[in-house]
Amino acid sequence: MGKIRWIQVNAPEEGATYVYELVKEKLENDELRVIGLATGGTMEPVYEAWVQSPLDFSNTIAFNLDEYVGLDPSSPNSYAYFMNEHLFQHKTFLKTYIPNGLADDEDEECERYERLLNEHPLDIQLLGVGENGHIAFNEPGTSQDSLTHVASLTPSTLEVNGQYFENREKMPTTAYTMGIRSILNAKQLILLAFGERKRAAIEKLAEGVIDPNWPITHLLAHPNVIVISDLVEPKR
Ligand code: F6R
Repeated sequence: MGKIRWIQVNAPEEGATYVYELVKEKLENDELRVIGLATGGTMEPVYEAWVQSPLDFSNTIAFNLDEYVGLDPSSPNSYAYFMNEHLFQHKTFLKTYIPNGLADDEDEECERYERLLNEHPLDIQLLGVGENGHIAFNEPGTSQDSLTHVASLTPSTLEVNGQYFENREKMPTTAYTMGIRSILNAKQLILLAFGERKRAAIEKLAEGVIDPNWPITHLLAHPNVIVISDLVEPKR
């Protein structure tokens, strides 16, 4: 099992600076051809720092972790919209990929996405974590061998993410997500977690035992993981 590098920071902005330096160095050394991105509040300061900087992603391909099934990229709740708002309209990438929420055939869309990931192995994957320990939309119980698939969102995720939907009735209950294996295939994983709401998940990870009820713990199966957090590394 790999050893996690824990980076203790005081605030999300400090975490964003750490990611910025790391990404800058990799770009300068031409070691960042493909980057995996995430959405959500945790990532906002990270993208903000990139947007305000001279970082050049024009030779980098970006993949996003997930997208709601049934949402159009022009829907403000879609992850395509989030990425455009926070990053893609400000920074040019060689190519950006995100699952197509409107695909006719869900199975085909999952296969297409996984194929693209295989063609372009991820140098880095950025991750946030849900309160229930989910990574991407891999909810508790998801197999470590899972590839890109359609996940049913748990009541906890529907509750937490539902706050962003004006009309909760219209919130999709399923989403495309890279699987845990698709994520573990990346060369390096960088997980960010800030605030008390994430404490239970971070403590589970720090226990150092893979527990399928806490998807975050599958990171323990990866040889190169950095966790950036304001939560004190719990004693082991
Ligand atoms: C989003 C994603 C999710 C989020 C997680 C945390 O692409 O993959 O797993 O990273 O739900 O969300 P925030 O950052 O809003 O707390």
